[in-house]
Amino acid sequence: MKNDTNTPFRPLSRSARLAAGALLLAGAAHGSDGERTPRVTLIKPYVAECAACHIAFLPGHLPAASWGRLMAGLGKHYGTDATLDPKDIQLISQWLNANADDRPRAAAAVPEDRITRTDWFVRKHRSIEAATWRLPSVKSASNCMACHTGADRGQFGEHALRRPEGLSARQRATWDD
Ligand code: HEC
Ligand code: HEC
Repeated sequence: MKNDTNTPFRPLSRSARLAAGALLLAGAAHGSDGERTPRVTLIKPYVAECAACHIAFLPGHLPAASWGRLMAGLGKHYGTDATLDPKDIQLISQWLNANADDRPRAAAAVPEDRITRTDWFVRKHRSIEAATWRLPSVKSASNCMACHTGADRGQFGEHALRRPEGLSARQRATWDD
């Protein structure tokens, strides 16, 4: 993967809409409540082991407790076996832990330790209808790339957003809001 060592954003970045280019250069983004969020460099073992079946999810998208549980249960990983050797598990766990979402309000338990069940995710996507997540072109809310064309580079702003195929006229109308 070309950009595997340079994923700059922890997300929640409203300012990305305003100044995507500048932010990319700055390599940092502001959270929706204005706090500055650090650049995240994806480590190689993470990309190699955790971006085989889906994109390399950003560490800042889940709290440390969720990453910890997830890394402790890779044998039963959302219906698949994602087991790794202990050395990689340790390395990746430490890195996830160090870069996890540490905002106080992110400390609440996350159902299924899913990014897609975090409070911020639900809030940011509240205008998307349930049926939209189930479209063949989307399949699952976890499939960020269906809508965020820069998700694999850590980009989730409005500039890198596409409407998935197959939206009804009504869904398109809510999408544009
Ligand atoms: C063998 C394939 C495979 C590998 C390897 C794998 N995953 Fe997954 N992962 C899945 C599947 C399947 C799901 C569930 C997707 C869905 O519900 O649509 C998932 C879901 C997730 C989710 C939850 C996404 C959501 O719904 O919010 C996280 C977080 C995650 N994986 C992290 C990791 C990490 C970290 C690693 C590396 C240690 C990893 N995955 C390796 C297959 C894999
Ligand atoms: C069905 C399409 C769709 C999918 C799939 C999807 N999103 Fe989104 N996402 C959106 C839309 C639409 C917005 C709202 C854009 C806006 O108003 O700025 C959004 C907003 C966001 C934002 C806030 C961006 C900002 O600048 O405020 C983040 C972060 C985000 N999504 C992350 C994710 C992640 C991570 C995944 C996968 C786990 C994902 N999204 C999956 C459609 C989607």
